[in-house]
Amino acid sequence: MNSIEKIFANNKEWIAGKLSLDPAYFENLNKGQNPEFLYIGCSDSRVTAEDLMGVQPGEVFVHRNIANMVISIDLNVMSVINYSVRHLKVKHIIVCGHYSCGGIKAAMQSVDLGILNPWLRNIRDVYRLHKDELNAIADEQARYNRLVELNVQEQCVNLIKTASVQQAHRQRGLMVYGWVFDIHTGKLIDLKIDFPKILADIMEIYRLS
Ligand code: CO
Repeated sequence: MNSIEKIFANNKEWIAGKLSLDPAYFENLNKGQNPEFLYIGCSDSRVTAEDLMGVQPGEVFVHRNIANMVISIDLNVMSVINYSVRHLKVKHIIVCGHYSCGGIKAAMQSVDLGILNPWLRNIRDVYRLHKDELNAIADEQARYNRLVELNVQEQCVNLIKTASVQQAHRQRGLMVYGWVFDIHTGKLIDLKIDFPKILADIMEIYRLS
């Protein structure tokens, strides 16, 4: 069996497993989705949203890209945010980064990566914003880990800059969280980003509604 055939065999097994526990499983899945969470994470194959959160199909709306970025002119992520906040009415938005992130590592190097340059530029901007703190960290691994965390924090700030998130926070208490997945241990770390405080700090500049 080749690797593609294996996938279809896996799928058959998965269907049988679900149906053995609940014969109406797919019928119910077909009725619609009502996820409480929007998860924005990295495309890295080792960081699978549902697995690490222990949630089932229907529980989390997922967007993944290189280095879990929230970029205001990325129509893809902006559509995901708009749809999930205004239509699905998610209650929690999570930005989840991870240690050993290749995107973050690439942004720390002086290399021309072609089409990736403008994407990674956004991570370099995070470095510039926090240059004093980062450059004060002598250990390269520790500096790399810290940039992973600061990048999550800045992407949370970028979320807060959107009109849909500002409005949903005010109207129904939508919250934003920054997490890091530690690949070495499997642990999910809550960076405890103070969403209301950041919101208060930046609203003077970014208020849209
Ligand atoms: Co990554």
